[in-house]
Amino acid sequence: MAQISRTVPETMRAIAIDRFGGPDVLTMHTLPVPEVGANEVLIAVHTAEVGGWDAEMRDGSLSDKKPRFPLVLGGGGSGTIAAVGSRVKRFKIGDPVYSFPWDNPKGGFYAEYVAAPAETAAPVPPPLDLAQAGAIPIAALTAIQGIDDALHLKKEERVIILGASGGLGVFAIQFAKLRGARVLAIASGQDGVALARKLGADAAIDGRSDDVAGAAQALAPDGIDAVLALTGGKTLTKCLDTLRRGGRLAYPNGIDPVPRKRRGIKTKPYDGIAGRAQWEHLSRAITAAPLQVPIAAEFPLAEAARAHERLAQGHVVGKVVLRISH
Ligand SMILES: NC(=O)c1ccc[n+]([C@@H]2O[C@H](COP(=O)([O-])OP(=O)(O)OC[C@H]3O[C@@H](n4cnc5c(N)ncnc54)[C@H](OP(=O)(O)O)[C@@H]3O)[C@@H](O)[C@H]2O)c1
Repeated sequence: MAQISRTVPETMRAIAIDRFGGPDVLTMHTLPVPEVGANEVLIAVHTAEVGGWDAEMRDGSLSDKKPRFPLVLGGGGSGTIAAVGSRVKRFKIGDPVYSFPWDNPKGGFYAEYVAAPAETAAPVPPPLDLAQAGAIPIAALTAIQGIDDALHLKKEERVIILGASGGLGVFAIQFAKLRGARVLAIASGQDGVALARKLGADAAIDGRSDDVAGAAQALAPDGIDAVLALTGGKTLTKCLDTLRRGGRLAYPNGIDPVPRKRRGIKTKPYDGIAGRAQWEHLSRAITAAPLQVPIAAEFPLAEAARAHERLAQGHVVGKVVLRISH
């Protein structure tokens, strides 16, 4: 039988959409608290991660199947376990967790409760607290999988991280440094450059105004070994020109425009995934780093539309979050 905390109510506040559209379609709903299945946990949500993918879910551009309205957004976040399915042995009520149940049929993290498959959740690793852990599930998993699984970055290799001051980039810098690589961070604006240096980049420049070729030459006179591209376009073309023969390019699916394949460069598009092994891998790295989590803006649940307006303005340096409980 499922174990359920006595504090779980029947209904909850959730930000959901009843149709695709702009930020104004994000409205407060009262919805039933989702029931916990045998292989699931119910999470009392503390913090929801907000990313560009949420805006694409909201406006319908990410949807390839018939939508189930009202649709609760929020692919990742943190909270404490409020109920445990009958077949789940790894968690108990009260455990702090972070989770990434992408496209969860039972609803996302813009809500007071989420029922998620247990394998999509993991204990919050030290030294993070719930506020920090909730900001990072999709970004940090996708960043570390770029560094370790797509690029297989090794000690002393020279890597360019393009889009280094964005939601994934701020973690990619830290994971690349953890693996002992030499990092050229290509960031956005002087504030982005300053943050990239603070997070440990060996060199950091503004991709729109500084000399990419010169900075790469200074770090790696015989050519850059690898590029992690978190945005596409002209600056990425300049980065690829600095790669040595046999160099590697990795990028998460979604960057725009998609880079063209080049002869002599190993290219790896990939998607972030969240299984038990991936969480353990991430949590070890977070503790070893220890990971810094730059929060650019925080909004209460009721102001989710404002959070999406902030995303749409662009130039978010770090992460945007929704704070659901304290
Ligand atoms: N497939 C997957 O599993 C998966 C998972 C997560 C994310 N993604 C994709 O990964 C990409 C990165 O996500 P994210 O959350 O990190 O996005 P993000 O926060 O928007 O980061 C992209 C960064 O690139 C910067 N940038 C743009 N042009 C630049 C240039 N010429 N020079 C230097 N910096 C530049 C942006 O700065 P400004 O905002 O100042 O322009 C921004 O900081 C997105 O395309 C997303 O869809 C895919």
